[in-house]
Amino acid sequence: MAKQSTQFICQACGASAPRWLGRCPGCGGWNTLVEEIVAGKKSRGSLPTAANKPVSIGEVPEDAAARLPTGIEELDRVLGGGAVLGSVVLVGGDPGVGKSTLLLQALAGLAKRGARALYSSGEESVAQIALRARRILGDQSLGDRLQIVGASDVAEVEDAARLARPSALVVDSVQVLRSAELESAAGSVSQLREVTARLVDLAKKERIALFLVGHVTKDGALAGPKVLEHLVDVVLSFEGERGNAFRALRASKNRYGSATEVGVFEMAQGGLAEVPNPSELFLAERPAHASGSVVAPVTPQEGGARAVLVEVQALVGSVGQGNGRRVTTGLASTRLALILAVLERKVGFMLAGADVFANVAGGLTIDEPAIDLPLAIAVASAARDRPCARDLVAFGEIGLAGEVRGVARGMSRLGEAASMGFKRAIVPASTAERMTGNDRSGVEVIPVRRVEEAIRIALDD
Ligand code: TYD
Ligand code: MG
Repeated sequence: MAKQSTQFICQACGASAPRWLGRCPGCGGWNTLVEEIVAGKKSRGSLPTAANKPVSIGEVPEDAAARLPTGIEELDRVLGGGAVLGSVVLVGGDPGVGKSTLLLQALAGLAKRGARALYSSGEESVAQIALRARRILGDQSLGDRLQIVGASDVAEVEDAARLARPSALVVDSVQVLRSAELESAAGSVSQLREVTARLVDLAKKERIALFLVGHVTKDGALAGPKVLEHLVDVVLSFEGERGNAFRALRASKNRYGSATEVGVFEMAQGGLAEVPNPSELFLAERPAHASGSVVAPVTPQEGGARAVLVEVQALVGSVGQGNGRRVTTGLASTRLALILAVLERKVGFMLAGADVFANVAGGLTIDEPAIDLPLAIAVASAARDRPCARDLVAFGEIGLAGEVRGVARGMSRLGEAASMGFKRAIVPASTAERMTGNDRSGVEVIPVRRVEEAIRIALDD
């Protein structure tokens, strides 16, 4: 066994120090350093072997990154076309969001296509998983291609993989696994690092598509985030609001595809169902002729190609004493504050003493500037109690002087609006100029330069 020594390791960023410090030298966090026993460095041979001999790009066989589609299209698209043999995918998300369900369904999809799949759980008992599998997979005849094992030590996972010889392996979760070689508790940074490194090794050597489930801490980061994220090839996060069935799967890192895709699911009785047309879901409960509601084509993933339509809602209370409250759901409160300031100072709305609530309906969180204009129109519509025209969508960034600024992906936003039957779009003038030719998907484009212009058109003033 390797020589052991102790180090003080930051539980937030993974930085290490030889002695205890009140403040982490890496991330500046207070009281985050914990003493952990770490294995001494193993010496490595330096003679070149066949495996590390340089080759020219043309010599590398195409199937070096063979892909296995899971058949769940929303997942395959986010992965970049399916799971890659020998790759490691980390799936993070809050407890209860549906990570285990998603990956069980993914393994079943792979098994259905003839691949051998192994689900290793340290969270739930084998009996619990089997029960869930029977319920959501029904009587699909998967033969013995989908196997389950309970494991709490990484060596048990390695043994199980040797026996089952899977092409795809799920480890649920990486935080409950420990390595007997280290004395620190499961979930500590040195354990996470060791366990993940061994599993990554296993995946690369045996050419297994490996999925690791990772829990997320309260502030939304993966526990021991930097430690895990740079060890793996793909980082996915599975998100959803409590009490809302809708779930979004996003990639924040993808060595095998684009990191700008988003997959949309709905948690139902029989497990996760794909939502191929999310706009329909997000607009399903839109009230007729209500003030304070505007439809916005947004790209839920930063830089993403896919546009979806969401309903932006605002409610303005009556003006009272002192400062009004500002409450947001699904968008940053700083964005609302900026829009309110522009509406006050540049357009002449009196909102300082009023309570203002703003909401992206459906549980999606949007953090792109294109939501500014629909948000401003929604607030104006609520403040004047005038409904916005129903055949209309709007998007655009708003600057501090009240100018409407261009945003990217104008055409895909228009295309999505057209596919849902909208007839007109209020668009930043500079974006409208960049959109090509006459083919605007049959949607009338209304270019605007100022926020007050957009409000006038939308509210039909
Ligand atoms: P789970 O996959 O266990 O979440 P995670 O692994 O991310 O903690 O999903 C748990 C939740 O999903 C649970 O609250 C119940 C719900 N659920 C359904 O609504 N329908 C289903 O078919 C399944 C399997 C779970
Ligand atoms: Mg789980």
